[in-house]
Amino acid sequence: MLGSGLALAACGPKANSQPAGGPVAPLKSLAPFPIGTCVRANLLEDPSYAALVSEHFSQLTAEWEMKMEYTVLDDGRFRFDRPDAIAAFARSRGMRLFGHTLIWYAQEPPAFVNLDEQRASFARAYDNYITAFVGRYRGQASGWDVINEPIKDDGSGLREHLWSRRLGEIDHMVRAFHVAKAADPDAVLLINDYNLESNPAKLAQYQRLIERLLKAGAPISGIGCQTHCNADLPAGALTRTIEALARFGLKIHVSEMDVSIVRAGGWFVSREEKEAAQTRLYAEAMSAFAALPERQQFAFTVWGVRDPESWLVKENGSDTPLLFDGAGRAKPALRAVEAALRR
Ligand code: G3I
Repeated sequence: MLGSGLALAACGPKANSQPAGGPVAPLKSLAPFPIGTCVRANLLEDPSYAALVSEHFSQLTAEWEMKMEYTVLDDGRFRFDRPDAIAAFARSRGMRLFGHTLIWYAQEPPAFVNLDEQRASFARAYDNYITAFVGRYRGQASGWDVINEPIKDDGSGLREHLWSRRLGEIDHMVRAFHVAKAADPDAVLLINDYNLESNPAKLAQYQRLIERLLKAGAPISGIGCQTHCNADLPAGALTRTIEALARFGLKIHVSEMDVSIVRAGGWFVSREEKEAAQTRLYAEAMSAFAALPERQQFAFTVWGVRDPESWLVKENGSDTPLLFDGAGRAKPALRAVEAALRR
């Protein structure tokens, strides 16, 4: 046991972050489409972080500060300070801003919950919120996740939440897309969900919903595939999922990619093997996305820059799901993404 423990220790997080060669070319210089990452306003004040973001990425998504949990105060007022700071950083560096997210089951702020049961007043507040945010970043935001994570985790149907209860299961979605379109006719309007590559039932439900919304006249112009995956995801799953979603002919956004080492099963699989699998999965996703027709390449976004900043590290401090290590050094996964872009 000690021997195996020592062997595993040798394959800990550090083993993956040894620089394996010269500098990596800026990803955004290699891609004919935007390369995105999510950011937090406070991190952008860190010069080394800001430099790394500016070097490699051409589109920024607010990790949480453009969501209702930050922007909608209990008394119904909006706050724009941090969204504006992120937008200003992007603008100053010639980057696109991506709006994430308008309507999400996970965000039910008191200001909306406490609105009276009258549908009319709730609908007015709903429309006003969407118009205020999409309108504010009109001309800078390349697009918006209008509806986020509508499908139940088991793929059995649509989530039920404040928005669906007050404004209708499908109607609240169609409404949101129309109001967003009116606020910024040029923005790409997307729907976004996760585990599509690992849960066929969820993917099928997502495809059915997109068909229903398109038939209902919702002005959807893009489909988000979050791509939060685990290192034990079978090869080919990402490619099949991206290709399946692309069959709608709409723009595709790999919107939140990270590859968890810790969440990957297989106690018998060494960390080094899981890290190699992570590298392969990043390469596969980038290859599949880069193979799409140019008109369908919205953006390829990873969910964070340096490992320690990942949301997954809050769950398990030993996870290393991103392209850069804690010191901002290139990991093999980054080099694999670079190689996939050069092909
Ligand atoms: O930083 C503040 C801290 O100053 C404050 O004291 C504390 C009070 O609650 O909040 C802290 O902010 C937290 C923020 O993450 C930064 O760490 C928020 O509470 C917390 O809600 C927020 O969680 C984010 C989560 O979405 C909910 O918005 C995660 O960072 C973010 O990675 C995660 O991202 C989601 C996507 O939006 C949708 N797809 C899944 C993905 C992962 O869950």
